[in-house]
Amino acid sequence: MSVNLYKRNFLTLKDFTEEEILYLLSLAKDLKNKKKHGIFEKNLANKNIALIFEKNSTRTRCAFVVACNDEGAFPEFLSKADIHLGGKEDSKDTARVLGRMFDGIEFRGYSQKTVETLAQYSGVPVWNGLTDEDHPTQVLADFLTIQENFGKLKGINLTYIGDGRNNMSNALMIGSAKCGLNYKVISPKELFPDNALIEECSKWAKESGASITVSDDMADVAGSDVLYTDVWVSMGEEAKKAERYALLTPYRVNTAAMKAAKPGAVFMHCLPAVKGDEVTEEVFESLASVVFDEAENRMHTIKAVMVATLSRNNYV
Ligand code: CP
Ligand code: NVA
Repeated sequence: MSVNLYKRNFLTLKDFTEEEILYLLSLAKDLKNKKKHGIFEKNLANKNIALIFEKNSTRTRCAFVVACNDEGAFPEFLSKADIHLGGKEDSKDTARVLGRMFDGIEFRGYSQKTVETLAQYSGVPVWNGLTDEDHPTQVLADFLTIQENFGKLKGINLTYIGDGRNNMSNALMIGSAKCGLNYKVISPKELFPDNALIEECSKWAKESGASITVSDDMADVAGSDVLYTDVWVSMGEEAKKAERYALLTPYRVNTAAMKAAKPGAVFMHCLPAVKGDEVTEEVFESLASVVFDEAENRMHTIKAVMVATLSRNNYV
């Protein structure tokens, strides 16, 4: 069976099969290797790429810009302060205008609905660079990092500790269910993942051989290959800071948690990290920490998404 992602949107991993996700990872690995050897194929020569950011970003923005530069495309950064989106103009109109000028659009912001509207009306591939609900490009980088460390995805015990209902936890659950990782969320009951999402993911988990478990007990880190965490307060939720600290202080990834996981377990974090909150400085700086490999892999995997969806030649 062949994989063809030409002209596809990348809004959530829900829309992708295991085979398509594995294809994106192998394309990213290939592009990473080529860059290391100074080979630049300019797969996106003369493409114009719009980068819309309603929320802040270091990694995602830089990954898109560097990936564009490597492949010969022209990125244009459009912050919320620069364009009319969500102000004078609705997303449907902005989509139709940008689609007449650009070959692809990245969107980072609040509502999943906005990225869906951009995809529906622009007529060009749209990529989700994070919404309140999802963060699919991050999961590609995380899975490439897991492959690099363990040589596989299937059967990996991936444990996420922290806010079990944020975009990162959702995205990791979806990706794990699609690709056969055993996904466990350890969080206080108040922050357990949405039941509807667990139900939706369960059908993919059944096909891929994955399992989905939810617990409020830190002792359940036992058997984990990966301990993953994220900030306690996501962008846009600043008003919930005090409530989150009260709930999440017992759910910090510390050396005791790493020791209770499998020998050889790695620590992962999408970054930015608030050291001392969700993870101790000791774990963050330890040899088990692969957080900067994940950050680098953002660029290689985002490049793969753009090349696969914009370049006719890149499918097998
Ligand atoms: N991990 C991630 O998305 O980082 P940025 O917010 O810096 O883009
Ligand atoms: N959950 C975090 C992820 C940042 C990459 C946030 O939305 O702020």
